[in-house]
Amino acid sequence: MAAHLTYDPTAAHRLLKQDTLRDLESDLLSARKEVFDDVALLRSGGEIPKAKQPLDSGFIDFPRRTLDDYAADRNGSLLGRILDTAEMLRGELDGIVSLGIGGSYMGARALFEALCRPYHNELSRKLRNGVPRVYFEGNNVDNDVLHGLLQLVKSVFTNPGDAAGRWGLIVISKSGGTLETAAAFRLFRQALEAFYGDDRDAIRKYVIPITGASGKLHDLSVNQGCRSEFPVPDGIGGRFSVLTAVGLLPAAVMGLDVVKLLEGAVAATENFRKQPFGDNPVLDYTATCRVFEEEHGMTIRVLSTWGSRLEALGLWYDQLLSESLGKSEQGATPITVVNTRDLHSRGQQHQEGRRDKLITNLVVDSPSTEPISLPEFPGDEDDLNQHAGKTAPELLRAAIAGTNKAYADDHRPTADIHVPVLNEFAMGELFQFFMLATALEGRLIGINPYGQPGVEAYKRNMNAVLKAEGGRRKADAQ
Ligand code: PA5
Repeated sequence: MAAHLTYDPTAAHRLLKQDTLRDLESDLLSARKEVFDDVALLRSGGEIPKAKQPLDSGFIDFPRRTLDDYAADRNGSLLGRILDTAEMLRGELDGIVSLGIGGSYMGARALFEALCRPYHNELSRKLRNGVPRVYFEGNNVDNDVLHGLLQLVKSVFTNPGDAAGRWGLIVISKSGGTLETAAAFRLFRQALEAFYGDDRDAIRKYVIPITGASGKLHDLSVNQGCRSEFPVPDGIGGRFSVLTAVGLLPAAVMGLDVVKLLEGAVAATENFRKQPFGDNPVLDYTATCRVFEEEHGMTIRVLSTWGSRLEALGLWYDQLLSESLGKSEQGATPITVVNTRDLHSRGQQHQEGRRDKLITNLVVDSPSTEPISLPEFPGDEDDLNQHAGKTAPELLRAAIAGTNKAYADDHRPTADIHVPVLNEFAMGELFQFFMLATALEGRLIGINPYGQPGVEAYKRNMNAVLKAEGGRRKADAQ
């Protein structure tokens, strides 16, 4: 079993004419060169040509740089400070509300779901190994959900004098001005201030902003005297920022090994840099996706995750691909499914619907816990004794094999991404694999993968509606 992420498109390639992929090789290699040249351009500090703006390629060498800085200075480096702050928060709090949306939310959520124990928040502090309960907000404006979490923190955290009864806030926004996050921050700050009362120092200590070097959140953090603030570096866009403080601080608070996370990303980058076409997951995945999109009209990319813990990672990828390449009337449509769950919902369409889907399975080879076996029952009314002794991973493997065969029998393409086990290293590899593939594809098809000008339209309109309403209310009141 490989110790690293692998990509196997054999089943899909059986449906292609020979040499189709080889024809793409030289364009892919040029695009790879451009992706790395983008890093050099960014790091040179020189002027970025207009055609390249915005240029957010900083995510590519950031993991390596972060580890090097940490090796050189354990305490003063970014990672050293993240680890110190996380240790303080774990020791002194029992709940963290993490506020953010889009790239300022989805990566941390993916890490939480993939690597914290299932039902983490329901476990006792002891079973959580002292890791605080983690809640996510600021990613919507749903009155009832906001209300629910505000009520929950009020009823669960009741003793500011004891670590087991205290909570705090991480607020993440690169721009510092995103309305959803800013509105939630007001509400939760108000709740936190009511909780800690006169203890202003607690607020300064337990509100941790992660934001750009300037902007409203940064100003607010300075005015409030927040003790720790972490940067979202220039040159790294929101959805490419999971391996900066944006994902690393929440991960460290969750008790995850962030060094391993970064090492996984470094390994993925080095693989991408060095491995030849045909043995290079990022190049090979991108080639397969492009060929099926261009030559077979497969504009829908289904990421078929085999395991509930991977759903949030899939949603993170949905955002990454959509915001990066959904421009100039181009860009494949990503869809995440969780199997076997969604075999009972989307499965019918994938098996017999339009032939517009390339299915990429994301498979974790081994579970992280002891395999559970199906017990034998005396009555055998459900006829399951024939499978007694089979484990959950064996049942899942049978489902994967059965599903892939059903697609292959109907000439529907599938490819497989495998990781040996779901741990920090694998998550680092997966994040970086998908980010590199997205940047590469953008360069290959001439779409700037960075920036998301289309998202501004709704924000402008929403602000205009709010301002107009504000104006009307004022007029009515006069
Ligand atoms: O990829 C992006 O840049 C976006 O998805 C942002 O992460 C999202 O809009 C949130 O922005 P901000 O972090 O500025 O609040």
